[in-house]
Amino acid sequence: MARKYNIQVAFIAIIVVVLLYFKQTKIKGFLIKNLYSGTPKTARTQRFPAIISNLVSEKEWEKISCVPFKVDRNISTPICIYNLTEGDNLSKVLSRGTVWQPHLIKTIQILKRDPELQLIDLGANLGTWTLSAARLGRKVLAAEMFPPTVIRLRKSIQLGNLQDLVTLVPKPLSDTRENVTIYLCRKSKMAINILMRKCSSPSPYVASTITMDDLTAYLPNGFTKAFMKIDIEGMELRVFNRSDHFLKTVDVPVILMEWRFYIRATLEPKCSYFISFMSRMDYIPFRHLAGPAGKLGPLLEDTHWLHITDLYLIKKTYLKSNFAHLQ
Ligand SMILES: *[C@@H]1O[C@H](CO)[C@@H](O)[C@H](O)[C@H]1NC(C)=O
Ligand SMILES: *[C@@H]1O[C@H](CO)[C@@H](O)[C@H](O)[C@H]1NC(C)=O
Ligand SMILES: *[C@@H]1O[C@H](CO)[C@@H](O)[C@H](O)[C@H]1NC(C)=O
Ligand SMILES: *[C@@H]1O[C@H](CO)[C@@H](O)[C@H](O)[C@H]1NC(C)=O
Ligand SMILES: *[C@@H]1O[C@H](CO)[C@@H](O)[C@H](O)[C@H]1NC(C)=O
Repeated sequence: MARKYNIQVAFIAIIVVVLLYFKQTKIKGFLIKNLYSGTPKTARTQRFPAIISNLVSEKEWEKISCVPFKVDRNISTPICIYNLTEGDNLSKVLSRGTVWQPHLIKTIQILKRDPELQLIDLGANLGTWTLSAARLGRKVLAAEMFPPTVIRLRKSIQLGNLQDLVTLVPKPLSDTRENVTIYLCRKSKMAINILMRKCSSPSPYVASTITMDDLTAYLPNGFTKAFMKIDIEGMELRVFNRSDHFLKTVDVPVILMEWRFYIRATLEPKCSYFISFMSRMDYIPFRHLAGPAGKLGPLLEDTHWLHITDLYLIKKTYLKSNFAHLQ
């Protein structure tokens, strides 16, 4: 009797071990794939992707709160945010759900002008741009380096069922490949950077950087023409220094970049180098897209350069076909 019982126990134990083994290998099997393509294979991964389990427990994942995010008049999608006790300003704005962000209107207008335009969102943060473009049916190549933000963006993408449209690269961009510490600036998750600004304190995260040219490997199929938004806290010009291959592979007729870090550096060679590089690539600089007055003159002569926070670059040929009102 006792012996029979022992055999039964041993048999059950073997079955349990085999099942655990299969479960383990199954999860391992799509670890890497899941990180970038995000096509969930089972109900379990759909809810809690394997890759995330390295960064956050399932319980913490469940606790991340998500709110409706209005993309256009009557279109919305879930956006996952920080707990308001964490002091992130963007999360605060999003939790109110009412603010129609002016910069988003501009993005949507640029995309609506051209149905073939996809989005490259460098410095995606919680995904206001990425989720908007994807919700409108455009493909998105997004890069965001801060793991707690990446987790939230992953959850937003899943809840919105936008996995097929968004490719998320969870890495910092630079002009070299190196291991860097990610710094937090104030409580706002919007000011995360790898340059160690005065106000910064290290976060527990270290990451390996990639260049814009390295991003070419992540381009989804059929991703040939895109609007690029780049907001990476003072790394923009350095990142464009390693971008030739990428910009030859995908046609980027419109770029919107944060310029506020360079306002006081317009006399420095790095700015004039960048502007001449862009002009060689046939881009024309604008400070706004409301009319021809938004066009900028030469860097050292046009004083408007000293006041712009967001710089638009539009390819000469695209200006003729899609932005005739700016000529
Ligand atoms: C959204 O609003 C537009 C007009 O503003 C309307 O034509 C369209 O049917 C609406 N779509 C839905 C899903 O309600
Ligand atoms: C937000 O954080 C506070 C304090 O840590 C906690 O009590 C609360 O449950 C959190 N709220 C959510 C929605 O996670
Ligand atoms: C966040 O909001 C607070 C108060 O509303 C403000 O003082 C602070 O400057 C904001 N920070 C950022 C980075 O916008
Ligand atoms: C970054 O760190 C990893 C792990 O320690 C190492 O394998 C890799 O070679 C490092 N990369 C660079 C560019 O130093
Ligand atoms: C980009 O490269 C050029 C030429 O090597 C250099 O002069 C410029 O300072 C670089 N820009 C940045 C921001 O590092």
